[in-house]
Amino acid sequence: MTQTEPLIRNISDTALLAAVYRARETGRQDALFREPLARRLAGTRGEQIAVSMPFSDRNTWAWVVRTYLVDQFIEEQCQQGVDMVVNLAAGLDTRPYRMALPASLQWIEIDLPGILAYKEEILANEKPVCALERVSLDLFDANARRELFAQLGRRATKCLILAEGFIIYFDADQVRALAEDLAAPATFQRWILDLASPGLLRLLQKNMDPSLKQSGSSLKFGPEEGPEFFVPCGWKPIDVRSPLKTAARLKRLSFTMRLLSLLPASNGRQGSRPWSGICLLAKP
Ligand SMILES: C[S@@+](CC[C@H](N)C(=O)[O-])C[C@H]1O[C@@H](n2cnc3c(N)ncnc32)[C@H](O)[C@@H]1O
Repeated sequence: MTQTEPLIRNISDTALLAAVYRARETGRQDALFREPLARRLAGTRGEQIAVSMPFSDRNTWAWVVRTYLVDQFIEEQCQQGVDMVVNLAAGLDTRPYRMALPASLQWIEIDLPGILAYKEEILANEKPVCALERVSLDLFDANARRELFAQLGRRATKCLILAEGFIIYFDADQVRALAEDLAAPATFQRWILDLASPGLLRLLQKNMDPSLKQSGSSLKFGPEEGPEFFVPCGWKPIDVRSPLKTAARLKRLSFTMRLLSLLPASNGRQGSRPWSGICLLAKP
């Protein structure tokens, strides 16, 4: 890192931060999942970023439980006949190396060229358990993504989309347009995403935006409608799981957060209440 270079240089550096949390979890005796490659991928820059973030330790449960819940959805969907997973903004995720996935499963990772080149180099000698491909693409290049989605759609019979830690960086119009394009291929049938309420978004903005600012990115998406936001775009929420309730069950919360987790849950409009959900969407 040069003296003039910010710690978080661009939006792709947020992938290093996600890898740090997975590496830390991997080191625990009671780990909810183990991702042995995460430490190498996170590197020293990743640790420096994590240490520099205010509240990074206090929020560990949210990162870890998100991964845990997404893993569960993926396992269930594979049992229900998914033959392709398209991981949008895959970052440094290594599920194709660590999960027990069918060897025949097609797994497509899409992200920006810089982070994928970095990942390819580090993982050059590692072997995924399924049929892994990587595509460098700016997912906000609408023509290019439509063409890619159409091509992938023709190669699948039942495709699961994954967007983890991604849509929060974009505004409602951008997310809406992406959702509509994802709804177009008939074989794109399920979509897993993590969603924040407006109240949680404001809290996260307060904690994270000062660190993100130098990279030119910020947190933007936390729709009033909750998971119902996606219905006019062609996607219906069919299962929404609560990271907070899950973390309470797994005994990963502080005392204060445990108290909060006792409040009754709903998956609709949250008003100013901080809420997050790991959502499984389907075509109506
Ligand atoms: C917080 S990371 C999440 C990575 C991964 N999904 C995970 O959970 O570890 C956000 C990711 O979004 C990617 N990203 C941001 N804007 C993008 C774009 N326009 N096209 C493709 N990927 C993008 C970044 O490169 C980064 O890898």
